[in-house]
Amino acid sequence: MRPLALVLLAAVACGAATIRDEPYRPQFHFSPERNWTNDPCGLIYSKGEYHLFFQFNPEGDQWGHMTWGHAVSPDSVHWNEVSPAIPEANGVMIFTGSSVQDGKRIASIYTGHRGPQGGQPGRQNQNLAFSEDGRTWTKFEGNPVLDIGEEDFRDPKVFWHEPTRRWVMVVMLPKQYKAQFYASSDLKKWTHLSDFGPEGATTGIWECPDFYEVPVDGNRKNTRWVLKIGINPGHVSGGSGEQYFVGRFDGTRFVNDNPKDTILWTDYGRDCYCEFSFANAPRDRAPVAVGWMSNWQYAGKTPTAPWRGQFTIPRRLSLETTPSGIRLVQTPAAALASLRGPRTSKLSDLKDAYEIALTADAGKRFSMSLPGGELIYEPASRQISFDRTRGNVDVDARFPSRTAAQLDIAAGQPLTLRIFVDRSSVEVFADGGRVTMTNLVYPTEAHAPALTSGAAVKVEAWALRSIWR
Ligand code: FRU
Repeated sequence: MRPLALVLLAAVACGAATIRDEPYRPQFHFSPERNWTNDPCGLIYSKGEYHLFFQFNPEGDQWGHMTWGHAVSPDSVHWNEVSPAIPEANGVMIFTGSSVQDGKRIASIYTGHRGPQGGQPGRQNQNLAFSEDGRTWTKFEGNPVLDIGEEDFRDPKVFWHEPTRRWVMVVMLPKQYKAQFYASSDLKKWTHLSDFGPEGATTGIWECPDFYEVPVDGNRKNTRWVLKIGINPGHVSGGSGEQYFVGRFDGTRFVNDNPKDTILWTDYGRDCYCEFSFANAPRDRAPVAVGWMSNWQYAGKTPTAPWRGQFTIPRRLSLETTPSGIRLVQTPAAALASLRGPRTSKLSDLKDAYEIALTADAGKRFSMSLPGGELIYEPASRQISFDRTRGNVDVDARFPSRTAAQLDIAAGQPLTLRIFVDRSSVEVFADGGRVTMTNLVYPTEAHAPALTSGAAVKVEAWALRSIWR
């Protein structure tokens, strides 16, 4: 190899090594190399590639100058950050939205946000940008494509509705607790169809909808639609978090299957917001979604540099019939298995980044200490909780917390847990993914996970390889 090539190779290798070794830098969760990110948006699978866009500040590590950052992946697990796709321009920030495959091109639909100026209120409206090559985007010259004169009107989720052969948009009126539905034949002219809400939890504001159809219990002849909505603040575990509705959609109107006051939470931790699914996934596959792992209560204060913000692992979404009705089930996407090193049953072998799958007796107390927190199961209440009151908790007064969730384990069934631990997060999938709990952690010391009470009937664990090359 020529000396210059060697130098370049060393520089590239060193760059990756430094990034990978930054304190609290996620090893297998996506995080931007530098600067601020919040919501994942515009997720799409197109021409063999997964595209992840994200609310990004190209100028710093606090929220601002919102732009769609961009990363691509062959498998939804290994990400390569590329140039930002849609930049802020002329005082209009590029807020959250979605993408669709429109023939050979990707069409991205985003909220244009203009803040209040000179005594005039701000304005949010819906806009289009196109990409032929999956790397560069051109804003549509006829923007905005949907403007109803509102200051708060955002986060369009657009999809192709095959039975009515048209595009449908779900978009939020955050302060009215309403999801509005619109239709279009060309993505450019939109007609109002219906409104959903207020229903369920109506605290804070509503934002970041996702909307998808899934088979119930794997039966393609019996499907339901899931309408997922972000709430900020007012989540059951504090601050920002998300609820979902299960119902039917006839192409015009979404009707909730459950009574209006039923509240269903997608996740019981503090740090899963704006979970959003990949559009255009192969037809036979369940939707896969990624969320922002943070909370608006302290997102700007997390102790990381030169980056701030990271995403959950990709999660497969499905619906299952339970005694209380049809409920969302989230399981780690199968593609994550490619990160696994050799299997072990010794927890003491694990450090930094790993996955644990375990089964325990649901009639006995069980607890496990993890870097930055403790996971506890109480048999009498059938509750799991995650305690992160220790570790580096000075982030914010509201950061130390204990989040809890009720499990509905059937009689005679064991407790099952899948736990994904990275350098600054713990994601728990309990009882086959019927309950998930996502929390950031900032451990002050490295230690292997260890049982602190009870016993596991079966443990399988894997070190997970870093996605940084
Ligand atoms: C949710 C959100 C969205 C908005 C974006 C702006 O976290 O407030 O409603 O589009 O962030 O960055």
